Amino acid sequence: MSPVPSAPGDAPARKIIVTIDGPAGAGKSTIARHLARRFGLLNLETGAMYRAFALKALRSGLPLDQVSDLEQLAAETAIRLEPGEQENRVLLDDEDVTGLIRNQTVTDAASRVSIYPAIRAWMVRLQQQMGSGGGVVMEGRDIGTVVFPRAEVKIFLDAAPEVRGMRRFDQLGPEPAHQPDEVIRDLRIRDERDRNRADSPLKAAPDAILLDTTSLTLEQTLKAAEDIVAAHLAQLSAR
Ligand code: DC
Repeated sequence: MSPVPSAPGDAPARKIIVTIDGPAGAGKSTIARHLARRFGLLNLETGAMYRAFALKALRSGLPLDQVSDLEQLAAETAIRLEPGEQENRVLLDDEDVTGLIRNQTVTDAASRVSIYPAIRAWMVRLQQQMGSGGGVVMEGRDIGTVVFPRAEVKIFLDAAPEVRGMRRFDQLGPEPAHQPDEVIRDLRIRDERDRNRADSPLKAAPDAILLDTTSLTLEQTLKAAEDIVAAHLAQLSAR
């Protein structure tokens, strides 16, 4: 049996695809980043792609419920993710918009534009192209169910809404523009939309491993996710 990679940045034994899905604030990005470093995978954050398109839609002034206009806009849009030290660099029509897509307006718009099947089909195609070579950890809402249903390792990350909301609140810094209850309320609204849209709603793939982090520390969560990937790699190398 060949050994499972043991040092950070080691190339994985095979070019596996790891998917991480789950609701907002569950910690997907932190875990994806950690797994990417630990196992030498490329980290691709698909939420950033929906955010970049939402930014373009907002800038264009189009109503977010005009799906045919949005579809036309998508046809004229190029979105790319480039791996960075801390997070992906997000390029919208070659403009670096990484720092412009995390505010509340774009966050809300991303959740709205992502309900449309035509927009999702376009995004899914892009994401499949980006991950087709394997050796990636891709996070989002539908990665294990729709984008890579045959991925080797699927993690569904969840936590109670209050806990996710408070984690988000703590990330807002020393002078937050919102109160904790507002952050939790916005997160619940977004959850509701992401879980109940008709096309590819947020849900766990039947073969995903559920990781509920409600009462776990960050270190415990990282360790649990790492163990899941390491166990799969060990199984693969034992074959
Ligand atoms: O992960 P995030 O919060 O950056 O995602 C922003 C929005 O994009 C989220 O509300 C739903 C949507 N999204 C999606 O529908 N499918 C994905 N794979 C990723 C994000």
